[in-house]
This record gives sequence, structure tokens and C-alpha cells, in this order.
Amino acid sequence: MDEKVLRLLESKVESWRIRVKDAEERKTYDEVFDHRTLLTLQKLISNSTIETIDYPISTGKEGNVFRASSVKGPRAVKIYRTSSFRRISKYIEGDPRFPRISGNRRRLMYIWASKEFRNLNRMATHGVRVPKPYRCLENVLVMSYLGSTRGAAPELRNVEVDDPDRLFELFLQDAQRIHQAKLVHGDLSEYNILIWRRLPYIIDVGQAVPFKHPHAEEWFERDMQNMARYFTKIGVEVSPEDLARRVRGG
Ligand SMILES: Nc1ncnc2c1ncn2[C@@H]1O[C@H](COP(=O)(O)OP(=O)(O)OP(=O)(O)O)[C@@H](O)[C@H]1O
Ligand SMILES: [Mg+2]
Repeated sequence: MDEKVLRLLESKVESWRIRVKDAEERKTYDEVFDHRTLLTLQKLISNSTIETIDYPISTGKEGNVFRASSVKGPRAVKIYRTSSFRRISKYIEGDPRFPRISGNRRRLMYIWASKEFRNLNRMATHGVRVPKPYRCLENVLVMSYLGSTRGAAPELRNVEVDDPDRLFELFLQDAQRIHQAKLVHGDLSEYNILIWRRLPYIIDVGQAVPFKHPHAEEWFERDMQNMARYFTKIGVEVSPEDLARRVRGG
């Protein structure tokens, strides 16, 4: 039975792989679906966390996101490539929640995936609109899928905002709640906010760090700069300092 699941997965991956023309992207597929990762997916299928991996949604810097199905509805599955560990080490070093990580790349990616899982949980507990985290196993994170059968929810940068003031208030709520969770997102921008059913959702929280992190303050200010720039561009004039003050004050 498990052997059959594995074969099915492998043939599906192969069908995506041969469809991509770009050599770089094909390499990405080889990296993301290494043997260990296929076994991890097989486990998630055997324990019914998911039923099938349906299709790729995105190829990012450190991970790939796929739409998956489960008996309870659609899911998003983010798979961290074990080859992309270099980009992330600076975020883990200095985080008091993750002391003494050894040099093992695979282990580092497991820690990274579990860090995103924990950050999602902590944000969700504080009422931040984030995808609901379901399960994290090794380098694979399973969360709720934002989108319809027609496709995944668009990133904010690709959305024409009809009511910028309303969006600003909704964003401010989320930013204040992240602050109440004593976390700094660390990569906040119109790329890492999805718009689903007219509401903003914060995503990509793997690099989020607690206030205690030595770079927390610097990354908070960078987040505020990015978002103030974005909102000013769509007509809600706000300075980074003003935004930071309102986020802290909430
Ligand atoms: N829960 C979700 N539901 C639907 N789509 C999602 C979900 N999570 C992520 N995506 C899609 O996948 C893309 C990449 O996700 P994310 O930013 O978390 O990964 P990443 O590997 O860090 O990517 P990047 O390096 O491009 O920032 C998102 O921009 C979005 O389009
Ligand atoms: Mg992203």
C-alpha cells in the first residue's frame, strides 16, 4: 500500500518536472522531492493529514508551495528544500528558542519548518489572520489553503485595492496582534500578504523572531518601512515612524 502511494507521488512529480522548460526550475523539483521528502509525504498521506498533492502553487527562495487535498478540505503544503539552508541560518542563530544548532543542513531545515509552524500557531493564538497550521513533519508544513478551485489567493502586490483605508485598518490590526504576540515578522511586504475574501492574510512567517532576538528591533523597523512605502503608494499616507507608533500602541 505505502509502496503504491510512493509510486503515485513519484509519477506525479515526474509529470510536473517534464512540463517545466526552465532548467533552473527543473533542478528545483529535483531538490524539493528528494527521497527523504517523498517518504515524509508518504507518511502524511498514510496518517490522513493529506490525501493527495494536487499541483504546484509557487516556487520560492527556500521552499515550494503545493495545493493538496484532504478529507476535510483543501490544504497548502510548503516543502522546504534542504539545499536552501544558507539563506536562513542568520535568522535561527540568535533566536533563544533554538539553542545550539549543529551544522547538519537537513536538520536545520526541519528546525526552520517547525519554526514557521510555531510562529503560525503563536500568531493564530493572538488572533492574527494567518493560514491555519495543521501539521509539521520534518521539512514539510501543512496549513489551510487560501483560495478557491480556480486558484490560490493573490498576493497583495497583484491586487487592485478598492478601499485602501479599509485595508490599512485591517493590516494595522494584524500588525498590532503580531506585536502583542511579541514577534517581529521580518519579511513583511505586499509579497507576503494574501488577499482572500477581501481580507488580508499574513504568510511566510518562517523568519519571524521574538523580541529578544538581537535583530528584532532592526527588522521591525524594516517591516514598518516596507509597509509604509506600500500604503503611501496606494494613497494612504503614513510614515514608517507613524506606523511603528500605531503598531506599538495597539
Ligand atoms: N496557505 C496558502 N494558501 C494559498 N497559497 C499560499 C499559501 N501559502 C503560500 N501560498 C502561495 O505560495 C507563495 C509562497 O509562499 P511563501 O511566501 O510562504 O513561501 P517562500 O518560499 O518563502 O516564498 P518566497 O521565497 O517567494 O517568499 C505565496 O506568495 C502564495 O502565492
Ligand atoms: Mg514569500
